[in-house]
Amino acid sequence: MGNSTLHRSWWTVRESDGPVVRTRNLRKRYPGGTEALAGIDVDINAGEVRALLGPNGAGKTTLVRVLTTLLPPTSGTAVVNGWDVVTKGDEVRASVGVAGQYAAVDGLLTGLENLHLIAKLRGMRRRAARRAAEEMLARFRLELKANQLVSTYSGGTRRRVDLAAALLGNPPVVILDEPTTGLDPESRLDVWESIGGLTAAGTTVLLTTQYLEEADRLADRVTVVDHGRIVAEGTTDELKSAAGLTRLVLRLADGHSLAAAAAAVADATGSAPEVEPRIRRIAATTADGPAALAIVLSTVDKEAIVEIGVQRPTLDDVFLRLTARQEVRA
Ligand SMILES: Nc1ncnc2c1ncn2[C@@H]1O[C@H](COP(=O)(O)OP(=O)(O)OP(=O)(O)O)[C@@H](O)[C@H]1O
Ligand SMILES: [Mg+2]
Repeated sequence: MGNSTLHRSWWTVRESDGPVVRTRNLRKRYPGGTEALAGIDVDINAGEVRALLGPNGAGKTTLVRVLTTLLPPTSGTAVVNGWDVVTKGDEVRASVGVAGQYAAVDGLLTGLENLHLIAKLRGMRRRAARRAAEEMLARFRLELKANQLVSTYSGGTRRRVDLAAALLGNPPVVILDEPTTGLDPESRLDVWESIGGLTAAGTTVLLTTQYLEEADRLADRVTVVDHGRIVAEGTTDELKSAAGLTRLVLRLADGHSLAAAAAAVADATGSAPEVEPRIRRIAATTADGPAALAIVLSTVDKEAIVEIGVQRPTLDDVFLRLTARQEVRA
């Protein structure tokens, strides 16, 4: 920071090679006892978009807060953009654009004022700050609301201001906690597009999400966390094949019992099928799709079958398998 070289960005320049985000045996225990992070080892390379996927309470926000220096770890190390989060907090903060899980922009300022303020906090001169704020308003389609108080915005619009603030000035590292939660489908597409644009710009992105589709669509790699631990990591394709699952899908003709066919599918696959009555489709995951398919073909009336096949699992199947809660103990 404070470097006088012309054209140098106001963001801290990275001084080392290797992963942009690196944690080792990172732990966080909250007062009161919950071990929200129970030993996280993660490496995120420069220019990578990484999704952190996990159910409620998995530890996603805690990791985001540790990586952005809002919360000190209990033990272990975390380095962001070459800087240790504990000993080099200022440098870390000067490397990262962040949007928390809940909107953090000031309701008593307008959208433009908020972004302008953030640009100035980032050390931009007045003109550059103004330009950066206006550029972000345009990028997130907020121009029409630019001069209204944020407190009058809808939740989704407020969320977009938050994201605009995180991305303002093109930080080298962007960390987003559930960036699209609460957005309508159109706004979600806008955000996806913006995140896609970051990839093209070589930005390193960590985003948390509970939407598997979002991870599938945006992320180069996905880290699945549960109970403060990493339970799987890889590309979405790798996760799908590592789960060792296939998906048996059956569509029934009108006039044949869905319930009876669903029971046959449950028997053949050993798992509870999803039934979509409207399109008369039954689907279930199983380790051995072809074997299950043969069983279903021998038990369900051929006339009843419009379509049957074995597919790759969806990321939902994988996620549910990886984070399955043991509800009842025998
Ligand atoms: N300030 C706190 N004090 C005590 N426990 C906390 C605190 N914040 C979070 N926890 C606990 O730590 C665990 C991880 O919470 P965290 O908010 O990191 O999960 P998350 O994955 O972000 O969940 P969500 O999807 O609901 O946002 C949970 O068990 C939670 O109850
Ligand atoms: Mg959270």
